[in-house]
Amino acid sequence: MRNLLETLRPEGLLPQADVLLAWLKTTDREAVSRLYEAAFRIKNERSGPGVFLRGLMEISNRCQKNCLYCGIRHQNAATLRYDLSEEEILQLGRKAAELGYASIVLQGGERTDNKFVSKITRLLQGLKNIELKSGVDGGTRKPHQAKGLGITLSLGEQTEEVYREWYEAGAHRYLLRIESSDPELYGKIHPNDRLHAYERRIEALEALRRVGYQVGTGVMIGLPFQSEEHLVNDLLFFRQMDIDMCGMGPYIPHHDTPLAVHAHLIPSAERRLDLSIRMVALLRMLMPNINIAATTALQVLSDRGRELAIEAGANVVMPNLTDLLYRSNYDLYDGKPGASVDADLTDSPFARYLQERNIPILRGEWGDSMHYFARQRD
Ligand code: 5AD
Ligand code: SF4
Repeated sequence: MRNLLETLRPEGLLPQADVLLAWLKTTDREAVSRLYEAAFRIKNERSGPGVFLRGLMEISNRCQKNCLYCGIRHQNAATLRYDLSEEEILQLGRKAAELGYASIVLQGGERTDNKFVSKITRLLQGLKNIELKSGVDGGTRKPHQAKGLGITLSLGEQTEEVYREWYEAGAHRYLLRIESSDPELYGKIHPNDRLHAYERRIEALEALRRVGYQVGTGVMIGLPFQSEEHLVNDLLFFRQMDIDMCGMGPYIPHHDTPLAVHAHLIPSAERRLDLSIRMVALLRMLMPNINIAATTALQVLSDRGRELAIEAGANVVMPNLTDLLYRSNYDLYDGKPGASVDADLTDSPFARYLQERNIPILRGEWGDSMHYFARQRD
């Protein structure tokens, strides 16, 4: 293998599997620091110097699925289920606007019944009517999306018609993680039935793109049965799918899930954190103008998890707006940050860190990815 440092070109990394693999495997800490610096630099040049905020609302932990890794899977009888009411969600939307978050994410377990679908549609219409102090204006966008809060949905696999209905109601970004881009590994971490088919997930991602959303996906890092080669293919998959946004984080076992019996197979917490940050940096080098989140799961493995991701090229943070009362039940994995993590970033150690490094927090902007605008031009 030639000198790794020579692969860091000013315009990024070439999508070569052997190079990416070498970066994930190298024990040369000095070289890895250079990778992070290069990723941070290219992020500044191609996606701007700032960090975008999205207020996260965990609207319900009811889910029809049984993903083998997830604490809120349908069959986990130990989870106390909740649904935020429409008024509670609108209230959180107003809270986001007050805190100066121009974008929000509605996340929840997967449900496809009509009652749920129309509740979301109504909510989107309500949320779009909330006045922003800064009065964000989406310019040339379609009128139903041009003003108000920027809304991202993360509500699982739906039909193309439902995706369209929600898009027309005002959502314009959608997150749907592929979890692993390898069909065989996907099969090992999901039940083997139609509800959990890999092909269905791919179709959903394609439908989102057809409807017009900015599409985000992502994977878990450090899963049982996952090799570094899988992760390299995940990176190449993101490029091939030409995604606009990505959220990736370490796998963290949840004690009440079937996958937890394989916890002895996974890399150490330290290695999962390290791999996750390297994945952020490598993706930034491959896709300089997409939005990459510094995810919450990183924070479970280190107090500085999100900071490390920012230093490696991430540019989105999602402060949790959900009331503490419900938050503890949105229990995806063990040790998920709860009461200690505040919705308002002002005066937090994280905000101070950004200030010290002169990284502006871009309040009052939707923060769409530059990649999306470049796609629009093409
Ligand atoms: N560890 C890390 N991330 C998890 N998620 C679900 N369960 C876990 C876990 N045990 C992530 C999945 C899913 C998102 C909602 O939460 O990637 O897409
Ligand atoms: Fe449901 Fe998502 Fe958890 Fe799967 S990962 S069980 S779809 S909430």
